[in-house]
Amino acid sequence: MQKTIFITGASSGLGKATAKLFQSKGWYTIASMRNPENETELTKLENLTVLKLDVTDKAQMEDTIKKVTQEYSVDIVVNNAGYGLIGALEALNDEQITRQINTNLMGVIRVTKAFTPHFREKKSGMFINITSMFGLMGYPTCSVYSATKFALDGFSESLAYELAHLGIAVKTIAPGGIQTDFAGRSMDGSLHDAYKNLVEKVSEGYNAESISRFATADQIASIIFEAAIDNKDQLRYIAGNDANTLYNERLQLGAEAQYRNLKKMFTF
Ligand SMILES: NC(=O)c1ccc[n+]([C@@H]2O[C@H](COP(=O)([O-])OP(=O)(O)OC[C@H]3O[C@@H](n4cnc5c(N)ncnc54)[C@H](OP(=O)(O)O)[C@@H]3O)[C@@H](O)[C@H]2O)c1
Repeated sequence: MQKTIFITGASSGLGKATAKLFQSKGWYTIASMRNPENETELTKLENLTVLKLDVTDKAQMEDTIKKVTQEYSVDIVVNNAGYGLIGALEALNDEQITRQINTNLMGVIRVTKAFTPHFREKKSGMFINITSMFGLMGYPTCSVYSATKFALDGFSESLAYELAHLGIAVKTIAPGGIQTDFAGRSMDGSLHDAYKNLVEKVSEGYNAESISRFATADQIASIIFEAAIDNKDQLRYIAGNDANTLYNERLQLGAEAQYRNLKKMFTF
């Protein structure tokens, strides 16, 4: 029987690559996005519906998910919508911080809560939440972004226990760098004079050469597909070479030793 996937933030990057991959594998794909009127690529594909969904709009989200679960039997929900808020904490205003938390964390919590009764009634279903390597380890200028992604990791682990007896699975994908609009169009941030040297140091790791080594959205989408079909009882999928290097280092050295090493790089 044809399976159905629902994806948030499918207008670009990882969300769009995931929509295209699942559609190409024969899944019925519901690609949700804030501005479906601008979408020209996904709308041409068969077995794919483009829907309007801003994950920070609670009323729209509840209404959309109600309609989706009345019309379709959804098997997988990919909570992908999110963006980076980058900068020293002091440089960020309350509106920026709130929007980041509302999108990356509250958006996932609300979408998950709205789909849970549907999965409970089916006695099956899977949530795949896109976290980040910076949801498993901290990094300077990423404090609020990391706060949302660490929270998502804990949310997912707790929920995986809570939903297991109902036949519902929860998995996370923790990518390192991906070549998407994340570091361009989607990024929010502010500068502060007191952190000029620190920001310059952090930026060195994001030069053109480093970015060219990031995973492609298609590579990370393949890991999402694998997580969806591998029947493994696995919670976290560390995605990309950079993320695996950092995560393995954390496991081998221990979190405290890795923390001390990284801290030396950013102490002037
Ligand atoms: N790229 C990386 O290096 C990287 C690394 C680790 C994790 N991630 C995570 O991967 C996910 C996808 O990011 P990406 O790399 O594919 O970046 P991207 O190309 O910028 O895509 C982000 C998507 O999220 C959507 N979005 C933002 N706010 C939204 C909202 N309120 N409601 C619905 N959709 C919203 C954007 O929609 P619009 O088109 O409307 O703006 C866009 O479709 C994010 O959760 C991100 O944190 C990315």
